[in-house]
Amino acid sequence: MTLRPYSLADVAFVQDLYSRADVQRYIGDGTQRVRTMDEAWVKIAAWNERYSDEPVQGLWAVCLKDGTVTGSLLLKPIPDSGTKVERDIEIGWHFHPDHWGRGYATEAAWAVLEHAFASGLHRVVAVTDPANTASQAVCLRLGMTHLGLSKAYYDAACELFDITAPPVGKGYSYGEQP
Ligand SMILES: CC(C)(COP(=O)(O)OP(=O)(O)OC[C@H]1O[C@@H](n2cnc3c(N)ncnc32)[C@H](O)[C@@H]1OP(=O)(O)O)[C@@H](O)C(=O)NCCC(=O)NCCS
Repeated sequence: MTLRPYSLADVAFVQDLYSRADVQRYIGDGTQRVRTMDEAWVKIAAWNERYSDEPVQGLWAVCLKDGTVTGSLLLKPIPDSGTKVERDIEIGWHFHPDHWGRGYATEAAWAVLEHAFASGLHRVVAVTDPANTASQAVCLRLGMTHLGLSKAYYDAACELFDITAPPVGKGYSYGEQP
């Protein structure tokens, strides 16, 4: 598995992925859809503009060895509720239903957490819709701590998870609680 920035060659995948109700159901208000190739093109261009000079944060395409793109992994600032201030960093995952149920989201997220901690981040959070049990399961497989229902971010009640960097010289492995 490799992670790389999306390119304009991925426009059909991005349009397909983000047009789906089953993918968008728990993202934002659940109604967003990328309906056309042009909209997908604009989205990829915006990601590249935002993250191309960014050494730690990103939005990556998750690819299998044969180059098949399976989904997205993101690491970005998360807005506090009631303000535009972004103090914490969140991790997130959006995978194509063709690639659910194989552990790809957890494997890719683990690689991003390792990158985050190697880059000096101390803490990463994840928020999920309370009904999004598949995403909560990813958090738990990663060894994130479930902090319960929280309105701390996005002006919404979400299940909140976090994970902190391992002590210097000690790495984590899958599912190991820090
Ligand atoms: C959230 C989402 C990424 C979870 O995908 P997923 O495929 O269930 O998660 P993983 O990639 O970690 O795979 C875990 C599943 O693969 C199975 N699996 C197979 N091989 C595995 C392996 N080597 N390692 C871990 N799990 C493996 C697990 O048993 C589990 O299956 P189960 O749910 O039937 O028990 C996916 O549902 C999604 O993209 N949803 C739409 C977008 C979304 O809601 N994003 C989150 C917003 S907060």
